[in-house]
Amino acid sequence: MQAVRMSMGVAVLSMAFAANAADVEVLHWWTSGGEAKAAGELKKMLETKGDKWKDFAVAGGAGENAMTALKARVVSGNPPAAAQIKGPAIQEWGAEGVLASIDDVAKKDGWDKVLPPAVSNVMKYKGQYVAAPVNVHRVNWLWVNPLLLKKANVKAPTTWDEFFKAADALKKAGIQPVAYGGQPWQDATVFETVALGVGGADFYKKAFVQLDQATLKGPTMVKVLETYKRIKPYTDKASAGREWNLVTSMVINGTAAMQFMGDWAKGEFLAAGKVPGKDFLCVPAPGTANAYTFNIDSFVMFKLPNKDAVKGQKDLAETLMSPQFQELFNLNKGSIPARMGMDMSKFDDCGKKSAEDFKADAAKGTLLPSFAHGMAMYSATQGAMYDVISQFWNDDAASAQKTAEKLATAAKVR
Ligand code: BGC
Repeated sequence: MQAVRMSMGVAVLSMAFAANAADVEVLHWWTSGGEAKAAGELKKMLETKGDKWKDFAVAGGAGENAMTALKARVVSGNPPAAAQIKGPAIQEWGAEGVLASIDDVAKKDGWDKVLPPAVSNVMKYKGQYVAAPVNVHRVNWLWVNPLLLKKANVKAPTTWDEFFKAADALKKAGIQPVAYGGQPWQDATVFETVALGVGGADFYKKAFVQLDQATLKGPTMVKVLETYKRIKPYTDKASAGREWNLVTSMVINGTAAMQFMGDWAKGEFLAAGKVPGKDFLCVPAPGTANAYTFNIDSFVMFKLPNKDAVKGQKDLAETLMSPQFQELFNLNKGSIPARMGMDMSKFDDCGKKSAEDFKADAAKGTLLPSFAHGMAMYSATQGAMYDVISQFWNDDAASAQKTAEKLATAAKVR
């Protein structure tokens, strides 16, 4: 009897707490070791405001599975409070009429003053903030296991010639040169990096930002495709379908020497206790030292009928943009803060270099949106590009010239 009364008391108490505390359901795809650690910091910080984090995690790199799950929920009239949505897709969701304004929080906390306009414009729909950015990821990195390179007596490559020479030397030494994950988004991630390295920033902009037909099917694109395909013999047969974090593990464990990937990979190295500059190196991918492909994670808020839920969303928006959160989260995530003017002293050399290059490339006009990560084009166009790139990678007989023409056709998909 006593036990029943006690447990009823606890139930009444927790119900009272639940009435004040908002449940904030957040959709994201941060399920790998480094990602989960970073997301854990967000949960902790939000809960200090008295809200309750309700996890809506959908595994799968780059969020393709998460977007499918989200669409199903929104269509059934039951959206989460917030979702990880980025780039031009924010406008697509805005046009559906389902996003909530967080402009009051943004005004109160002066977001316009601490975000570069290139970032804040993307976070607004019809002039009002509907999303909060949490970071800037750099995509054009090569992750290197220095011990394996030493064994093969090669240096981290800075040009494509050096890259293929190093890959040959590694192969000769019995070391797998490249760790690769054959999934459409990973194919596109490597491909866009090769495109930047081979074609340069202007070519990248014309092809993937302006979607210029002549550039997409021109001779430089053919060269890009050929260079991309030259990487394949240096990967292993089991790469098809491999998740990106397992690819990173291969470099961490010394199964393979290098991975092309954005700096969420650094989160994996750090979560495994590895030290940058010693256990692993971050170097700009061959030919890309003078440019920066960016990928910004952000959260949009959905319109919700319940007042407590709206309070929870405002708390979340405030947390996401707070300097404390932006530091702690990005130290774990591998990225750098989206807020300007942050103290970078706690960041490692990869983070510091990313922050310096971000500024320098913004000034030079070589800061470029990653199309593989939803920064450059609408999702239907991006999906059509993914298909063409993956088909090319998977079919050893595919013609580079014909594939370039298919890219140009894909660019017209809306
Ligand atoms: C996201 C990152 C994430 C990565 C792998 C990218 O598109 O921006 O936050 O870690 O995908 O899932």
